[in-house]
Amino acid sequence: MGIRTKFTEVFGIEHPIAQGGMQWVGRAELVAAVANGGGLGFITALTQPTPADLANEIAKTRDLTDKPFGVNLTILPSINPPPYEEYRQVIVDSGVKIVETAGSNPAPHLPMFHDNGIKVLHKCTAVRHAVKAQSLGVDGISIDGFECAGHPGEDDIPGLVLIPAAAKQIEIPMIASGGFADARGLVAALALGADGINMGTRFMCTVESCIHQNVKEAIVAGDERGTELIFRPLRNTARVASNTVSREVVKILDDGGQFEDVRDLVAGVRGRRVFDEGDLDAGIWTVGTAQGLIHDIPTCGDLIARMVAEAEDIITNQLAGLVTR
Ligand SMILES: Cc1cc2nc3c(=O)[nH]c(=O)nc-3n(C[C@H](O)[C@H](O)[C@H](O)COP(=O)(O)O)c2cc1C
Repeated sequence: MGIRTKFTEVFGIEHPIAQGGMQWVGRAELVAAVANGGGLGFITALTQPTPADLANEIAKTRDLTDKPFGVNLTILPSINPPPYEEYRQVIVDSGVKIVETAGSNPAPHLPMFHDNGIKVLHKCTAVRHAVKAQSLGVDGISIDGFECAGHPGEDDIPGLVLIPAAAKQIEIPMIASGGFADARGLVAALALGADGINMGTRFMCTVESCIHQNVKEAIVAGDERGTELIFRPLRNTARVASNTVSREVVKILDDGGQFEDVRDLVAGVRGRRVFDEGDLDAGIWTVGTAQGLIHDIPTCGDLIARMVAEAEDIITNQLAGLVTR
């Protein structure tokens, strides 16, 4: 048994389940565990302080798995942009064959990746951006709904509408993300026209994810209402955990404050303290509404195997059993 889709075929993986890029979380142990479980994990390039560190992280991942895995390259507007071209060169030189692009138009990166036999999965949050990426020649689309952790865009279209709306126009393999955490979600995504799913929050809360145990336990304890949308008035919305810091940021900006007024509160070093030291109110940390569906801290291998087995059961027994003849 198994679930074979356009996504598993084109990207050469066993199960239609991906672990998308996650700043501070997408490291070798997690990515290798997802790969060994038959899913597609992505190392987050910019978590590594320098391109040379990324090369080391890729090598470390290779030591832990002989299955395929990828690298996420997130391109966001920034005052001091990281050396994207050097990170890109490291990816090419490393021999990794799958890249997840996110954050902006993938066009500048496509020729170099394609010339080196690298497949590009472009993640975006709007149908029009997915259509554009398809026309540019990317190899797959990852469509990320309003439920998601991180940047949901400004259109606020949840997966129930976003996925079939995108599926109508996307012919290349397409996976869906935002709010997926279990087999029911996987089957729903397939029914809505996706060829698989991408999960962030669910993979954060696994044995192999490097974040502090307190954060994993907070995700298990949390529910679907435990997130805030920060930076809404700046039109750079991010879904993050609801805590004293994120609620203060929302209040300051709602009251007319500017980015300068929240810069210290949202500093990356504070957010890292949450993941490293387990102080849940130290800063901003990313999590999605899917935490309402997460009740345990499994290994990635067990999680993927469980989801696939349950999805097979839902499709072949529970749903098929509803059909009258
Ligand atoms: C802690 C965390 C950090 C993230 N960082 C990034 C990132 O750097 N680049 C990116 O493209 N997506 C990032 N994401 C988004 C995920 O790749 C994925 O699209 C999203 O989590 C899907 O929604 P879900 O959390 O409901 O599964 C992050 C998500 C989390 C939870």
